[in-house]
Amino acid sequence: MKDVSIFTGNANIALADGICKHLNIDLADVLVTRFSEGEIRVKIEDNVRGKDVFIIQPTCPPSNDNLMELLILIDAARRASAKRITAVLPYYGYARQDRKDQPRVPITAKLVANLILASGAQRVLTMDLHASQIQGFFDIPVDHLYCINVLCDYFIQNEIKDVVVVSPDVGGTKMARAYAKKLGAGLAIVDKRRITPEKIEVMHILGDVRGKNAVIVDDIIATGGSMVEAVGALKKQGVKDVYASVSHGILSGNAISRIRHCEALKQLVITDSIPLDESKRLDNITVVSVASLLAEAIRRIHNEESISCLFDETR
Ligand code: R5P
Repeated sequence: MKDVSIFTGNANIALADGICKHLNIDLADVLVTRFSEGEIRVKIEDNVRGKDVFIIQPTCPPSNDNLMELLILIDAARRASAKRITAVLPYYGYARQDRKDQPRVPITAKLVANLILASGAQRVLTMDLHASQIQGFFDIPVDHLYCINVLCDYFIQNEIKDVVVVSPDVGGTKMARAYAKKLGAGLAIVDKRRITPEKIEVMHILGDVRGKNAVIVDDIIATGGSMVEAVGALKKQGVKDVYASVSHGILSGNAISRIRHCEALKQLVITDSIPLDESKRLDNITVVSVASLLAEAIRRIHNEESISCLFDETR
């Protein structure tokens, strides 16, 4: 690809490397370090004047550092006369507060969009947003990819039969239905109540799950509380094996200990949109890569080709 430059901060260097390998280009030489007191210091070492710049930086934990690195990298590319700057956020953090559903709460997902715009991004490429409407928080083009094909391949290749796809909440039904269609499976929905941001309680399971292999589909797993509750409730309903397919493995707080002790969870399949530290690797966690999907999207955006063929499955 001609006149393209791909940078990354420190958020997910392995994924950025993987994307560059698929594109057969080198990652641009960019210094992203810290001043002595902790402030972020950036210097783009390559010439990017007139280049189509893609900055790969999921805003996963440490979210504030990763977001700030992204904003500063965009600013540096803008001041270095890049022709076009695309912020590539395989995981868009700060997405959970996306509307004013209680008095005196912020809409942080919109604030983050404003910051990305103000820093100088001209396009956004992202994946499995917590809420699709976040696309509308930007007044620049947003390409929103889905991990469904990459994640479903695991279940197809491992020939998991007799599947029921389970949405862990009503909001996830549309995505779960797309999985069910792709896997030729039935659909069930968990009716849950959130007691605190970290604690949920399962009320009912809607749908026929008895004797089936359940695949719980979610966009994020943070503390693992929702997942472990759903696994327990499904087991009580006579499900055979329980799998989980999650786009973004945040795995914060007690998540790893919860998953380690959740014997009923046969396998949690996540993508590499967020790096998984060596200390968090368990036998029942499988990581599948979205590098080729993102690489193909970048190639098509650069060549001004349509990318809709990359997400047809979810319509
Ligand atoms: C809820 O809306 C999300 O889709 C996830 O189910 C939830 O945020 C996961 O959080 P945790 O793992 O902390 O229960």
